Amino acid sequence: MVTRERRAGARWVYYMDRIRIIGGNPLNGVIPISGAKNAALPLMIASLLTSDTLTLENVPHLADVEQLVRILGNHGVDIAVNGRRERQTDGYSRTIHFTCRTIADTTAPYDLVSKMRASFWVIGPLLAREGKARVSLPGGCAIGTRPVDLFIEGLQALGATMEIDGGYINATAPKGGLIGTRYTFPKVSVGASHVMMMAASLARGTTVIGNAAREPEVVDLANCLNAMGAKITGAGTQTITIEGVTSLSGARHRVLPDRIETGTYAMAVAMAGGDVVLEGTRADLLETALETIRRSGAEITDTADGIRVVRNGGGIKPVDIVTDPFPGFPTDLQAQFMALMTKSSGVSHITETIFENRFMHVQELARLGAKISLSGQTAKIEGVQRLRGAPVMATDLRASVSLVIAGLAAEGETMVSRVYHLDRGFERLEEKLTRCGAIVERVSD
Ligand code: UD1
Repeated sequence: MVTRERRAGARWVYYMDRIRIIGGNPLNGVIPISGAKNAALPLMIASLLTSDTLTLENVPHLADVEQLVRILGNHGVDIAVNGRRERQTDGYSRTIHFTCRTIADTTAPYDLVSKMRASFWVIGPLLAREGKARVSLPGGCAIGTRPVDLFIEGLQALGATMEIDGGYINATAPKGGLIGTRYTFPKVSVGASHVMMMAASLARGTTVIGNAAREPEVVDLANCLNAMGAKITGAGTQTITIEGVTSLSGARHRVLPDRIETGTYAMAVAMAGGDVVLEGTRADLLETALETIRRSGAEITDTADGIRVVRNGGGIKPVDIVTDPFPGFPTDLQAQFMALMTKSSGVSHITETIFENRFMHVQELARLGAKISLSGQTAKIEGVQRLRGAPVMATDLRASVSLVIAGLAAEGETMVSRVYHLDRGFERLEEKLTRCGAIVERVSD
């Protein structure tokens, strides 16, 4: 059955949409890089911390952002979109104003949280500002079990009482509010680091977080919180110090460029060949990934406003990678790099250390002719000379784009179904690729 859903401000999109790719063309031109989805989501959630307006520029136009808009609306956030297209990125990224005068509801229900795991993060601001939150457990997910124990332990360290009841976490702050603490995460978590920073910003006293995530999105959130009046130092290192303040104000903040989108298109060029400038992005956001792509044979140089990726002629060399928290090779680029390695001139190995079930693209890449075998958390990829187009199915956000990249370098037609995964995280993918000479179109039945 065909179901459909409205993508805010845009056309109706069919849940049964597919993407059709005719492979074989190199990519040449300019691809504007959007604002980072993984930065925009926590920044939007930070609007719950203040009764003033938080204005975010360069917010990507994505299904996940629209979903979070719905969730924040439920908590009482008033949202005003500035529809003007930003010339700088030549994209649809928008400026959005978020105002949460009062928290309307401290409950985040299952039907909303289950659609997007990051919405669980509202627990931090709700608890810090209102002293209580009832948030549904996010449940399982296609790429692994993804527990929430680190959030629970971290917030407990701030003095909160955390009880699980009927699939929900009931979190309650002590009388007088959360209390600054020293807490070291037993494992690096991006989301739990975001939540601790937000909650501790309104706690009494100083909080020191050890083994914090160092991802650029954590730094972006800290910068925005500081612009709102928080006192956070050390973001981007393993130790983050937060001096609690009594209230936060509004601010204006620009979402940083999407390093995963940047790496994805860099790998697309490395695989399909060509010469593309990725505009509006920064090499320092993904040095490890760029260095890996260079070792595979592409040339990457800085430009005035981004980076240029070139691979003309030379083949693709095999390179081994292990995913790791930042500054290591990002798990969110693992599937795309595997696509690239399927056409390398030798054998490569990819080890996934962040999520236990993030190899679902392997079976789909095999449908295109890739030779991949799995042993535990490591994939062995024997490069082949040719991939051949085939119908394939997107299984999660990053896996789905790996199939698109592979399709660009495959002979004939690749049809990717379940593309709603792509719409969660890639802004105007078909348009960006088509402008560079690829044959990619969305097909609605
Ligand atoms: C974020 C990103 C996601 C990326 C991931 C790792 C967003 C919206 N999503 O997800 O794209 O793939 O970082 O870079 O920014 N864990 C626990 N207990 C917890 C929390 C996490 O064991 O309480 C585990 C996870 O199962 C995983 C690891 O920690 O194995 C890292 O996950 P985490 O960094 O928390 O990922 P997210 O923040 O959900």
